[in-house]
Amino acid sequence: MSKPALSIQNAVKTYANGFTALRGVSFQVEEGEFFGLLGPNGAGKTTLISASAGLLRLTSGKITVNGYDVRNQADQSRKSLGVVPQELVFDPFFNVREALRFQSGYFGIKHNDDWIDEIISGLGLADKANTNTRNLSGGMKRRVMVAQALVHRPPVIVLDEPTAGVDVELRQNLWQFIQKLNQQGHTIILTTHYLEEAQSLCHRIAMMKNGQVVALDSTTNLLHKEQSGIRLALSLDQRLPESLNRCLLEQEGFDCVLKLNDYSELAFVLQALQFAKVNIKSLNILETDLEDVFLNLMRDEQGAAA
Ligand SMILES: Nc1ncnc2c1ncn2[C@@H]1O[C@H](COP(=O)(O)OP(=O)(O)OP(=O)(O)O)[C@@H](O)[C@H]1O
Ligand SMILES: [Mg+2]
Repeated sequence: MSKPALSIQNAVKTYANGFTALRGVSFQVEEGEFFGLLGPNGAGKTTLISASAGLLRLTSGKITVNGYDVRNQADQSRKSLGVVPQELVFDPFFNVREALRFQSGYFGIKHNDDWIDEIISGLGLADKANTNTRNLSGGMKRRVMVAQALVHRPPVIVLDEPTAGVDVELRQNLWQFIQKLNQQGHTIILTTHYLEEAQSLCHRIAMMKNGQVVALDSTTNLLHKEQSGIRLALSLDQRLPESLNRCLLEQEGFDCVLKLNDYSELAFVLQALQFAKVNIKSLNILETDLEDVFLNLMRDEQGAAA
């Protein structure tokens, strides 16, 4: 059996000031997954990532990376993991290529220039390779952070909000590059507040709130749990046929929102309208996206207690 890329078992973290940021988190990311770790500000995502990287010690619980215990097999687990941290931190004396060589040295890798070149060009850093990191723009610095996390070709890559402050073009570059790494077998764990990015990239998602996991499922299943719907604008003086009352979710004047169990019920709605000779001005399909799922979960107080 292959070992999980990341296994979190009952992780609890209480900071020195007494605040408990992780309240018993457990989940597993399998090898080769593109996994999303989502949650509002303060949910505990970065705390969990820092603990996985061995930068912070759990109060209780256990984390393994690539099968290696973060505490007892720190060296192997550190080599298995590449983290792009949320905060930009740099040694200001290096240019981009030097920073990447230095980072390679840190992992004991000597001849790494071919791979460094590949990362540099994959992340659109080629014309900045000899620029001092101090003189890069914020988005460029972010690219260097991504590059640094990849120098030792870690099987598991964690990206903690890699696209914050990054322009559209780099985002697309970055995602192409990360998707290629995923296709080559790297496990990707992504934290982002851009939910449409998570929806299109991640196969499976954990949602955190107040230091707990409140949802853990495939992206498709999460989306299916939300109800589909349509918005109808009736023409003046028209009334919704009675047969549709049972799916009426809300109505304001001539504007109605109907909920559907799935989109195949659309035919039924259209038939009912036609049968009752009701004229409509417009009909819009309300597509559920991850943002709806997320907002509902975060609103749901019971989610926190689950
Ligand atoms: N060193 C610390 N001491 C005390 N509390 C801390 C410390 N670091 C983080 N926290 C608290 O732990 C909680 C979780 O923080 P964390 O950074 O893990 O959240 P996050 O999910 O990454 O949020 P964001 O989306 O804003 O990055 C927050 O309430 C934060 O204030
Ligand atoms: Mg964070």
